[in-house]
Amino acid sequence: MKTVIRTSSGEYPVLTGHGVSCRVLELSGILPNVTKAAVVTDDNVAPLHLQKLLDVLPEGTLRYVVPHGEQSKNWKLLGELLEGFAADGLRRDDVLIALGGGVVGDLAGFAASVYMRGIPYVQVPTTLLAAIDSSVGGKTAVDLKAGKNLAGRIYPPRAVVCDIDFLSTLPKAEWKCGLGEAVKYAVLAGGEMFELMKKGLDENSLEHFIDLAVDYKRQVVEADENESGTRRLLNLGHTVGHAVETESALGFPHGVCVAMGIKAVARASLSAGLLPKEDYLAISSLIQKYSFPECPYPMRSVLGHVAHDKKISGGKLNVVVIRGIGRCEILPMTLKEFEEFVS
Ligand SMILES: NC(=O)c1ccc[n+]([C@@H]2O[C@H](COP(=O)([O-])OP(=O)(O)OC[C@H]3O[C@@H](n4cnc5c(N)ncnc54)[C@H](O)[C@@H]3O)[C@@H](O)[C@H]2O)c1
Ligand SMILES: [Zn+2]
Repeated sequence: MKTVIRTSSGEYPVLTGHGVSCRVLELSGILPNVTKAAVVTDDNVAPLHLQKLLDVLPEGTLRYVVPHGEQSKNWKLLGELLEGFAADGLRRDDVLIALGGGVVGDLAGFAASVYMRGIPYVQVPTTLLAAIDSSVGGKTAVDLKAGKNLAGRIYPPRAVVCDIDFLSTLPKAEWKCGLGEAVKYAVLAGGEMFELMKKGLDENSLEHFIDLAVDYKRQVVEADENESGTRRLLNLGHTVGHAVETESALGFPHGVCVAMGIKAVARASLSAGLLPKEDYLAISSLIQKYSFPECPYPMRSVLGHVAHDKKISGGKLNVVVIRGIGRCEILPMTLKEFEEFVS
């Protein structure tokens, strides 16, 4: 399947399918110009999937393998990558390929955006989270000591090539992380996405679900590329989710915290009379179906972390509330109002 994303600086295709990575350059539409490529990946993905890409990339393709995990999204490693590109003679018309999950995608995308004031790059997502979320939309970033994703750019890739076969090696815990974001899409978009998740994602439905998620994200980012309005909908469950993540000292993975956050917002939306009971029950049973744990912390201690949320603007949080499955809305609230809302 091919989805085309339109941006202020052009458009790019998102291609999904089994085995599509072996046609990565051709499908990206950049083959005629490419004489040299570089792949950035991590040390988990490299032994599993790097060779398959190297087999179809020009001889002498450069490779950069970073340690896996969030701690690689840092300024120092970004600098080392850039120095490596320069030392290895990567030029402006060469292409960078980010092969991995959201960490590699964010880091390599940011590197591509600043190296020689921007070189073309292609996202090749290898996690469910990256396939349905981070590889699309052009957000790139590294973390700062003060918080996640505090330095970055919106720099669209030249293409996203999502080879479903790559997902087959994903460890269970990483699936679960992706499923937390999948629940987010199911609640945001409703309709077929919700139904597919209710039935349970399997080999037959996975690719279609990814296509639907990509198309949903396409609509959102095309309407609001720079996140000044409706793109904030994609933060459903993330205000509480990030706070739980901080409270647990990263003991709970991101996607699991997002699912807890969605549950909290659904409960709050029900209590505030915004969400009909029937939809609330459907959302909570979906979350239960995928065995996401209950938030073990009292809301009061979790909320202590919300004050540091970087998404507070003008003293207000842009809270994504749920009015129904497929009907979410951004409601600005002061911290106090938010505390009352979720408590
Ligand atoms: N740019 C965006 O719009 C956006 C959106 C959401 C999240 N993010 C970012 O994405 C990151 C999280 O992404 P993630 O969940 O993909 O994490 P990740 O990139 O750390 O990948 C998770 C783990 O799975 C391993 N892995 C990846 N693919 C594999 C495969 N096919 N087989 C076996 N192991 C594999 C990785 O080595 C890693 O250990 C966060 O840094 C988050 O901030 C960005
Ligand atoms: Zn998320």
